[in-house]
Amino acid sequence: MNSFEQISISKEGPVVVATISRPEALNALNQIVLRSLAALLDWIDGQADVRALILTGAGEKAFVAGADIKQFENMTPAAAEEFGRAGQALFTRLEKSRVPVIAAVNGFALGGGLELALACDFIYAADNAKFGLPECTLGIMPGFGGTVRLPRRVGVGLAREMTMTGNMLSAAEALACGLVNKVVPQASLLEEAKKVASTIALRAPMAVAAIKKSVHEGASLGEPEANALEARLFGELFATADRTEGVQAFIEKRKPSFKGC
Ligand code: COA
Repeated sequence: MNSFEQISISKEGPVVVATISRPEALNALNQIVLRSLAALLDWIDGQADVRALILTGAGEKAFVAGADIKQFENMTPAAAEEFGRAGQALFTRLEKSRVPVIAAVNGFALGGGLELALACDFIYAADNAKFGLPECTLGIMPGFGGTVRLPRRVGVGLAREMTMTGNMLSAAEALACGLVNKVVPQASLLEEAKKVASTIALRAPMAVAAIKKSVHEGASLGEPEANALEARLFGELFATADRTEGVQAFIEKRKPSFKGC
């Protein structure tokens, strides 16, 4: 199995679990972790048999406690802008990846950690998870897409309150506002994430990829354009062998066996 510096990965059938592992800094995103995340996405791109990715953090305390604050000490404005652009590009690449990505948030998801989770398709959380964008407490602001994705996920009012106060949401509060899909005990987080990832992995991969694209791209289009995109993708799926198999399996009252083509 491949491994990446400060990210360990394991593969169970079509599901890959990638664990960001820098426990001495609560898995904060330094340049090494960011580079490894990019390498992970390159690797996933080449693995046709991977049907879902779970991102989590090592230990029981943190998913990711943000970008590494220590690197901000001597950063110039120009370097900070470049750092922000690079982080945004990486997270957008994650958001657009063919493979569905589930964030299994096992503790603090702060700053870049919450921004990373927001770039995943959806979030499952442990009951001890805490979510926040506390950058304003450091005299800065979110820079990896937080002010863009958070308001779209939880609504503008709550996103403003979170980013302007820096206050954290508990797992229960994150569930109530739709930031996370499910809250489970810490001990069963990975098992629950694997369960939903395995269900997705059983579905037709091209259909899942088209759904992902339609939801992601549709979100930044007007309704007529988003509907046009959906219609085009819907039509394209009718040219796939998996559509023939899926419909035939239903008619023959059997389970489909999808090939991803
Ligand atoms: N960057 C760099 N190091 C970080 C970090 C970050 N984002 N978050 C935590 N760490 C380091 C701490 O400096 C500490 O290292 P040390 O033992 O060498 O001093 C270690 O991780 C443990 O963190 P600590 O603060 O001692 O744990 P805690 O339980 O008291 O508090 C948090 C946990 C998450 C509340 C606190 O670490 C925190 O506020 N982190 C920063 C969160 C943040 O502002 N993120 C946005 C960054 S843009």
